Amino acid sequence: MLYLALLFALLLAGCGAKDTAQPVSSGYIDSRACAGCHAQIALSYAQTGMARAFHPIRPDEVPTAKFTHEKSGRSYQFLTRDGKVFLKRTTLDGGFPIEKEIHYVLGSGNHARSFLHRTPQGRLIEMPVNWYSERNGFLAMSPGYDRPDHLDMRRAIGYQCAFCHNAYPGIPKASLLDDPIFPAKLPEGIDCQRCHGPGREHASSGGRGKILNPKKLSGTRKMEVCLQCHLESTSFPLPFSIVRHDQPVFSYNPAQPLESYILHFDHARGTPRDDKFEIAGSAYRLRQSKCFRLSEDRLTCTTCHNPHERTRAAAVDAACRGCHPSIDSQARHPASADCASCHMPKRRTEDVVHVALTDHKIQRPNAKLDPLAPLSERHETIGKDSYRGEVVPYYPAQPENDLYPALAQVLNQANIEKGIPRLAAALKQHQPAHPAFAVHMAQALHSNAKPRESLPYYHQALALDPAYLPALRNLGATQFRLNDLTAARATLEKAVSLHPNDSLSWLELARLHHAQRQMSEALAAARKAIAAEPELIEAYKTLAAILSDSGDRSAAEQTLLAALREQPDEPELLTSLANLEANNNSASAELHYLAALRLSPGLKAAHFNLALLYANLKRFPEAVSHSEAALEPNRIDSFLLLAQLNMALRDFRTAAAAYRRALAIQPTHGPSLIGLATALGATGDFRSARAILTQAAASPDSKLRSEANQLLSTLP
Ligand code: HEC
Ligand code: HEC
Ligand code: HEC
Ligand code: HEC
Ligand code: HEC
Ligand code: HEC
Ligand code: HEC
Repeated sequence: MLYLALLFALLLAGCGAKDTAQPVSSGYIDSRACAGCHAQIALSYAQTGMARAFHPIRPDEVPTAKFTHEKSGRSYQFLTRDGKVFLKRTTLDGGFPIEKEIHYVLGSGNHARSFLHRTPQGRLIEMPVNWYSERNGFLAMSPGYDRPDHLDMRRAIGYQCAFCHNAYPGIPKASLLDDPIFPAKLPEGIDCQRCHGPGREHASSGGRGKILNPKKLSGTRKMEVCLQCHLESTSFPLPFSIVRHDQPVFSYNPAQPLESYILHFDHARGTPRDDKFEIAGSAYRLRQSKCFRLSEDRLTCTTCHNPHERTRAAAVDAACRGCHPSIDSQARHPASADCASCHMPKRRTEDVVHVALTDHKIQRPNAKLDPLAPLSERHETIGKDSYRGEVVPYYPAQPENDLYPALAQVLNQANIEKGIPRLAAALKQHQPAHPAFAVHMAQALHSNAKPRESLPYYHQALALDPAYLPALRNLGATQFRLNDLTAARATLEKAVSLHPNDSLSWLELARLHHAQRQMSEALAAARKAIAAEPELIEAYKTLAAILSDSGDRSAAEQTLLAALREQPDEPELLTSLANLEANNNSASAELHYLAALRLSPGLKAAHFNLALLYANLKRFPEAVSHSEAALEPNRIDSFLLLAQLNMALRDFRTAAAAYRRALAIQPTHGPSLIGLATALGATGDFRSARAILTQAAASPDSKLRSEANQLLSTLP
């Protein structure tokens, strides 16, 4: 079975390769040059977590313990060989081992370190295990990975991580919609210019040229220097922020107001999320404190922090006393030292459960809460168990118009039903020049099961920019889904001719050719997709399907095996391999379906095909139970299979119920009509059987008519 929803999500995800290494803008230099004249600051700044937030892995950072993750049945161990570091992954049931070289560490290790592998194409892949500093240091899963079906060694990190954790990497025009390809040389850590802006002119004129000194900004603007990275209302699907579409990611200059670059959003007040506490939320929490709200713009991050140094408790106490001068003379107040220890205790973060951080919501101590109590990881799937409700503007609280607020309602589907008409109205009223708005509108319609209505919005985007890749690729995919194959081909061919490295457009083109049985074109396109992105599992599956349909089963199997050597436990690959084996090696097919289901217990395609396999092997009870697990509200074939299996088991009532559910999806579906009548007949309900057959006998489909008439004649 093809999984359109999943495929579509993939299509919406990334986008084509980008310009390679060059300085972000001529205004920036290598910040090591600043040290020449500001030695003291450079030396103390180097000790901070920010300066050490991104760097090549060092020998002393290589964890020695082996770590086993029970839920996914995988073990991880770091190895050092010839001066290189690798992470080796083995499965508990002895599947292929796999190794990835570790190139970088993200995170100073004050609280945690993430390990990154760099692919030859320049993607950075986050490893599934992190090192955490609590309890003298231990390995555990990376945030979001504590589940049986985690992404293992497949998750490419986006430009967002790099924006918050590093100096600008020299990719001038990148947008968040792009495939995150990084240049070969990357900066190492957050540098001076992230807070001071481009420094070339200043440095090359012996310090006479202008450079931003945040001290001279207003309180609000000074705080924005920090908010660019420290303001996150939530990292669960919302969206918490949107970078303005006309702003490249790595372009924010702290001399400009933050809202001219990015807008922040939040959950609506009054939900159980009001007291949320997450990793990058220091500013979000501080802004909730009475101290902040009632101080106008006198309270900023630098009231307590010197950004060039590690924070000292004495400096914090002095800051508190600056506004609470009489506290020490208050008789009821405890003898007051280290104000933060009682008023800003460390608290465990909900999104990174192995980390506890200072709670910046300054408040009266709350003895009832245990801020360090263990938490288990929460997983929210967009559109399923994630937040549903209004997404409200947070910073600025009142954007200039409704375009971005309306967009925020649909981006992660939090408020999609109300958001769609709202965004449509905002588009009409404001006619934005950037094509991304219309593309997001189209995608919202698509995710809300209205693909045909999305077409005009793709065309609107292409009228603004005929080469806009997200519009071309998604328009082509949508035309294909809607069966307009000629238009789909023209669109996708344009996409690959303008963006020859876009793996997802090639993949879509391969599927289109495959659907039209143009095998050699299909093969060529699938191979282009793999060449552009060797980690793209979908491309291997498509290539294998094309090879198998061209009669080259062994090449198909080789393709899947090659992909499985890269990703030994990718459940969908295992399912595809099992599909190939189902006809000639049912034992091996069964093994691979079961392995896929162990890794991804809800994988419908594996349940469905395994049910078919058991049916062929006449193992009906097992077939029924997998067929039940394969049911999907809109998939008629899933109900049909369940019905047919129950017929084979002579459970006619259950079969009739399943046929009815198939007919609820498509009321004129011939096999279901005939099946339902047969099942009803078998239970002795001839009246209902006759009514259904009479209806079928009037069908425009001649085959169905004759089948129905034949059955009618057998009814008593
Ligand atoms: C470019 C993004 C960015 C900017 C700008 C930024 N921070 Fe940070 N900050 C971070 C990240 C990421 C960390 C965590 C680094 C780590 O430990 O790996 C951090 C850590 C910190 C810490 C923890 C202590 C430490 O060792 O670094 C403090 C305090 C801090 N930031 C304060 C500030 C203040 C104050 C400002 C504004 C003047 C600011 N930050 C601006 C990204 C940023
Ligand atoms: C909006 C900015 C932002 C984004 C995006 C972001 N982070 Fe962070 N991250 C931070 C800040 C700020 C901290 C420091 C939090 C603190 O100490 O209060 C942090 C802390 C961390 C730490 C712990 C560092 C330490 O030792 O204190 C790790 C590891 C980390 N982030 C990894 C990542 C990864 C991986 C991604 C991308 C998937 C990511 N972050 C995306 C802002 C961000
Ligand atoms: C995380 C943000 C951040 C980073 C990184 C940073 N600075 Fe600063 N810097 C500031 C802020 C904020 C001020 C103003 C502090 C104040 O209000 O007193 C400042 C002030 C300064 C000043 C003026 C000092 C004065 O007394 O007026 C100099 C010089 C300076 N920084 C140099 C550097 C150099 C060199 C680096 C890199 C080694 C660097 N800064 C990195 C945020 C930062
Ligand atoms: C060739 C020496 C030199 C280099 C290189 C240099 N500076 Fe400076 N910087 C100076 C001098 C001199 C001043 C002025 C000191 C003063 O007026 O008190 C200064 C002042 C500053 C100020 C305060 C500006 C103000 O208006 O108050 C900041 C911030 C600053 N430098 C940051 C940087 C950063 C960031 C870099 C690297 C990108 C850098 N400097 C490189 C010499 C240098
Ligand atoms: C820029 C000034 C400023 C600073 C710095 C400051 N506060 Fe406050 N704080 C205030 C104001 C204003 C209020 C509100 C007073 C009121 O309710 O009348 C307040 C209220 C409080 C409250 C009562 C909170 C509540 O919810 O009732 C506590 C506790 C407190 N501050 C502790 C601290 C501590 C501890 C520090 C240092 C870590 C600190 N403050 C730093 C201005 C400040
Ligand atoms: C009223 C004082 C105060 C203000 C204002 C303040 N902080 Fe802090 N911050 C602290 C204290 C105290 C710590 C704990 C320091 C420690 O344990 O070393 C801290 C720690 C941090 C940390 C590291 C978290 C951890 O537990 O390791 C980050 C990141 C941070 N602050 C960012 C910010 C940012 C960004 C702002 C502005 C939005 C800000 N702080 C404003 C007092 C303050
Ligand atoms: C040992 C814990 C502890 C320490 C340390 C501590 N406080 Fe408190 N503080 C408290 C408690 C408990 C209360 C609440 C009293 C109440 O609710 O009446 C409080 C209340 C406050 C209030 C609100 C008082 C009011 O009149 O409403 C302020 C302001 C405050 N503290 C500031 C500080 C400052 C500034 C420091 C550091 C110089 C500090 N505290 C150190 C425990 C502490």
